[in-house]
Amino acid sequence: MNLKIKNQLAADLKTMLFKLDLLKAVSELSYPISELLEKPKDTSFGQLALPVFGLAKALRLSPAQIAEKIKDELLQYKASQPSFLDYVEKIQAVSGFINFKFQPWFLTSSLELMMHAPRLGFTDRNKNQKLIIDYSSPNVAKPMNVGHLRATVIGQALRNLAETQGYEVIGLNHLGDWGVQFGKLAWAFTEWQAEYDFKGQPFKSLFDMYVRFHDEAENDKSLEDKGAETFIRLEKGDPEIVSLWKMFVAISMQEYQRLWDRLGVKHDLVRGESFYSDHLEATVQIVKDKGLLRESQGAYVVDLGEDMPPCLITKSDGASLYATRDLASALYRHEVLGCDLNLYVVGVDQTLHFKQVFKTLELMGYPWAKDCHHIAFGMYRFKDQGKMSTRKGRAIFLEDVLNKAVEMVKGIIETKNPSLAQKDLVAEQVGVGAVIFNDLVNDRVKDVDFDWDKILDFEGDSGPYVQYTSVRCLSVIEKFQTVFKNTSRLKSYTKSVAPLDKVLRANRTSQVEATPDSWGFPSEPEEIDLVSLLLSYEAMLTQAFEKFKPSVVANYLLDLAKAYNSFYNKHRIIDIDNKPLSAERVLLTEHTQKVLSAGLSVLNIQTPVKM
Ligand code: ARG
Repeated sequence: MNLKIKNQLAADLKTMLFKLDLLKAVSELSYPISELLEKPKDTSFGQLALPVFGLAKALRLSPAQIAEKIKDELLQYKASQPSFLDYVEKIQAVSGFINFKFQPWFLTSSLELMMHAPRLGFTDRNKNQKLIIDYSSPNVAKPMNVGHLRATVIGQALRNLAETQGYEVIGLNHLGDWGVQFGKLAWAFTEWQAEYDFKGQPFKSLFDMYVRFHDEAENDKSLEDKGAETFIRLEKGDPEIVSLWKMFVAISMQEYQRLWDRLGVKHDLVRGESFYSDHLEATVQIVKDKGLLRESQGAYVVDLGEDMPPCLITKSDGASLYATRDLASALYRHEVLGCDLNLYVVGVDQTLHFKQVFKTLELMGYPWAKDCHHIAFGMYRFKDQGKMSTRKGRAIFLEDVLNKAVEMVKGIIETKNPSLAQKDLVAEQVGVGAVIFNDLVNDRVKDVDFDWDKILDFEGDSGPYVQYTSVRCLSVIEKFQTVFKNTSRLKSYTKSVAPLDKVLRANRTSQVEATPDSWGFPSEPEEIDLVSLLLSYEAMLTQAFEKFKPSVVANYLLDLAKAYNSFYNKHRIIDIDNKPLSAERVLLTEHTQKVLSAGLSVLNIQTPVKM
C-alpha cells in the first residue's frame, strides 16, 4: 500500500494508542507502526491490517482479545469524534489483526495523487547518494553467452530501480579486456590473420581464432608460452601489441553495442580490467603496508581466515590476477568516484571470488567494504536444447536466443494477426521483452528454466501477457472515445478529486470536509482490488530495490495484469447508458495501463501500442 496512506493511518493510530496508553507497548515492538501495517490476508477485509501479536505479552491478553479491544476503542472514539479516521469505512478485528477498509473516495483520491506525481513511482529518498552498478561486463573476443544475458538484464533492471529510488546511478562496464588471453590472441593474429576474414566478419574471425588457439594448444604446449610471452610484451606497453589489443577491444565493443542497443542497455562508464593496470602496484603496496601480504612459493596471498582460501594477489611470475584488478577497481569506485553503494551483478559461480575480495577490503580497514554487494544469479536450464542451434555445440549465445524469440513471435503474429501494422517492430518488442521478462520473473538466485512455450505464452505468466494487457487497456480507452464522442478529457467526467493533501495533513486538528460519498466508486471487489494494487506500486518498487530483486516488479506486473483482466471480464467497462460509471472505469483502465507500462520500463521492456 501507498506509503503516504500507511503513514497517515499510522499517525492516527499512534494518537489513539497514546490515548489508550498502549503506545509504550507498541514501541516495545521496536517498529514504527507504519512498518507493522501489512496487507490483510483477505482483501475483502480492506487494504491494511495491524497485527497485534507483539502486544500479547505486555498486555497479558490473547492477540484476538487485544484486536477486539483496540477495535472497540477506535470505534468508540470515532463515534465521538467524526473527523477521526473519517477516511476509513470499516474497522474489523479478525484473529489478532485489526483490518482497515478505506472509503472509496479516499482510495481514488490517493490514486489520483500518485498518478499525478511528476514521475510515476519515483521518490527522492536517496537523493545525493551515489550508486555504482557493475553489469553485463563481457569478455573481449568472446560472444556474450546467456550468463551475460542475465548479468545484463538483471543489472539494467536494478539500475532502473535504483533510479526510481532517487540514487545517482553510475552503470559501469567492467569489461574483461586484460589477461594472458590477449597475449594469445595477439600471437595468433600475427601468425594466422591471413586465414580469416577480418574485414568482413571481424568479431567472428576474432572468436574463431581464439577457439583455434585453444584447440591447437592442446597438442602443442609451446603455444601457451608464446601467448604468455606476448602478454608480457603487452603489459610492458610494446606499441605493436598494444595496437593489436586496442583493435580487439574495438571489434568486440562494436559487437556488444549491437546487443546492448537491442536490449536498451546503457552504461555510463567503461572501466575495463585494463584500466587498472596502472593502479595495481599501488594497490599491492597498500595490502603490503597493512601487513597482509604473505609469500607462498613465490606468489603473494592474503590470508582470510578459516572460512575461505587465501586471496591470490600476485602470481609467482609477478603477473596480476582478476582479484587484484577487482581490489583496485573497488578502491577506485569508493575513493575516486565516491560511491555509497557498490553493486556487482555477476553469476553465482563467482561467489567465492567476491567474498575474498570483500574480505580483503575489510582487512585492509575500509569501512565501505560493507557497502559492496555481489548480486548473484543462477544459471539457465534449457528444457529443449534441440530448439536452439548452438554454434559449435559449445555455449548458447545471447543473440541466438533473442533472434529465436523474435522469429517465433513473427510466426505467432502471422497466424493470429497478419494485418497488424509494423509487424517487425512489434515482434522485436514482444520477442525481446519475452526473453527479458522470463529472466526477471524468477528469483534471481535460482536457476531459470528456459522453456520456449512458456516464455511466449500470451495467456500465461509471461512478458507478452503483461504487454497484451496494456494493449487491451489502450483499446478500451480508444473505444470509450469512439462511443462517447466529443469526450475530450476523461477526467472531466469523473467526480472532483477529494482534497487529499488536506486529508493527509500530518496534524489534523480542523475538520476536513468529507467528500460526498454518494458516488461511491470503486465499489465492486474487482475495482477495489485493482485500485489497491495500483496504490501499492511505489512501495513495491522500494521493496524490490531493497532486496535487489527485479522479480518483485515482474510478479507485481503479473498480479496487476490478472487483476485488470478479472475486472475486464466481470464488468462492462463501457456502458452507453451510464457515462459517469464508464468514465470512472476507463480512468481506472488508463491508470492501469500507465502503471503496467511504467513497470515494464523499469524492467527495460517496451510496451507495444498494438499486438
Ligand atoms: N568479465 C567477467 C565475466 O564475464 C565479469 C566481470 C564482473 N565484474 C567484476 N568487477 N568482476 O565473468
